[in-house]
Amino acid sequence: MKALGIDIGGSGIKGAIVDIETGELVTERHRIPTPRPATPENIAKTVKAIVDHFKWKGKAGSGFPTPLAHGKCLSGSNLDESLKGVQIDQLFKDTTGIDFTVINDADAAALAEFKFGAGKGKDGLVAVITLGTGIGSGLFYNGKLIPNTELGHLSYKDAPFEKYAADSIRKNEGLSYKKWGKRLNKYFKHVKLILSPDLVIIGGGASKKLDKFKNELSVDLNIIPAENKNEAGIIGAAIAAAEGIR
Ligand code: BGC
Repeated sequence: MKALGIDIGGSGIKGAIVDIETGELVTERHRIPTPRPATPENIAKTVKAIVDHFKWKGKAGSGFPTPLAHGKCLSGSNLDESLKGVQIDQLFKDTTGIDFTVINDADAAALAEFKFGAGKGKDGLVAVITLGTGIGSGLFYNGKLIPNTELGHLSYKDAPFEKYAADSIRKNEGLSYKKWGKRLNKYFKHVKLILSPDLVIIGGGASKKLDKFKNELSVDLNIIPAENKNEAGIIGAAIAAAEGIR
C-alpha cells in the first residue's frame, strides 16, 4: 500500500509518496518553504499544492509541529497563534478534497523509527527526541506509541527547554557543538529524571551530527541517532494515514 506523507516544519513543508510495506519513498521529495505568516489558510494552501503536485487521491497524512490531540491544534508553537483550536485534519480535507490524518511531527518521526529505523524491535520505554526548530518527542512503550507528549516543553529557567537547547538556538546563538552539547546534557538529565527511558533516539536534522556533541553527553542514558534522518516525518505521516492513527 502507498500513502502520501507530508512533514510540516518551521522552515519547509515536504511531501512524498511512501511505500508503507518498505518505508521507502517511491517519489522524489517535493518541498515548499513554510508560508509566513503560517496561518491555517496559508498552510492548507501549501498542503494542497503538494497534493496537486503528486495528483494524489489516496490516503494522506501529515505531521504537524505543534501540540495536537486528535487532529486539533492546541497551540501555535513555532508556527502561528492563529492555528490554536483549529481542527487541522478537517481543514486539510476541506481544502484538498481528500481525507487527511494529522498527528504531531515528532510522533510521526517516532512511528517511522519504530517501523523502519533505530527503534525497530526495541522493547521498553523508548523516547524519540527530535532536535530542530523546536524540540519534539514521540514515546513508545513495548512497541506502542503513547501520543501527544511534549518533552521539549519541560521547563528550564521559566521557559520551555526548547528555547535553550533546540538546534535552531544553536544556530541563532552561534553556539559551538561543545557548548550546545552541554545544554543538551542538562536537557537529557531532566528527561532522565522524569521518564527514565530505556533508550533515547535522537531525530531531526541533528541526528546526523551526534558525533559532534556526544562527548558532552555524560548523562546516564542510552542515546543513539535516528536512522531515517530527514525522511522520518514524511514516512511516519504516511504510516499514520495508512494505519488510521489519530
Ligand atoms: C512543538 C512540538 C513539536 C516540536 C518539534 C515544538 O515547538 O511544541 O509539538 O513536536 O516543536 O517540531
